[in-house]
Amino acid sequence: MKLIIINGPNLNLLGKREPEVYGSKTFEDYFSELQFKFKNTQLEYYQSNIEGELIDKIQEVGFDYDGIILNAAAYTHTSVGIGDAIKAITTPVVEVHISNTFSREEFRHQSYISPVAKGVILGFGLNSYDLAITSFLL
Ligand code: DQA
Repeated sequence: MKLIIINGPNLNLLGKREPEVYGSKTFEDYFSELQFKFKNTQLEYYQSNIEGELIDKIQEVGFDYDGIILNAAAYTHTSVGIGDAIKAITTPVVEVHISNTFSREEFRHQSYISPVAKGVILGFGLNSYDLAITSFLL
């Protein structure tokens, strides 16, 4: 099983970015925990703040990986391009958010990812990623 976590803009700042919303752990530390927990799963991690780079990565992995766990962050709410990229590939995508976007500002209730995702997991803090990985192993 080969999975990749793709994180969008500002998620490189996890640990110091609005810790009351996103927690105080860096993603690098959390990713090491995930690799330890899911030893039998090939797990990769990619982050970019640039929309086109996220689309390039989705295209690159989107025909031979078993799954993509995507937190497109702010681009979730704006990016027709990322939605189209997900439509174009064959690898299933699970959309993830750390926070419960539906309990936040109205503009975060709209997602260009949800209609083309296999499923959506949000609001469980960093554990949302763990649950998304688990969903591919069921
Ligand atoms: C987020 C929620 C988005 O609305 C926000 O722009 C983010 C992070 C989350 O994981 O909770 O950057 O995707």
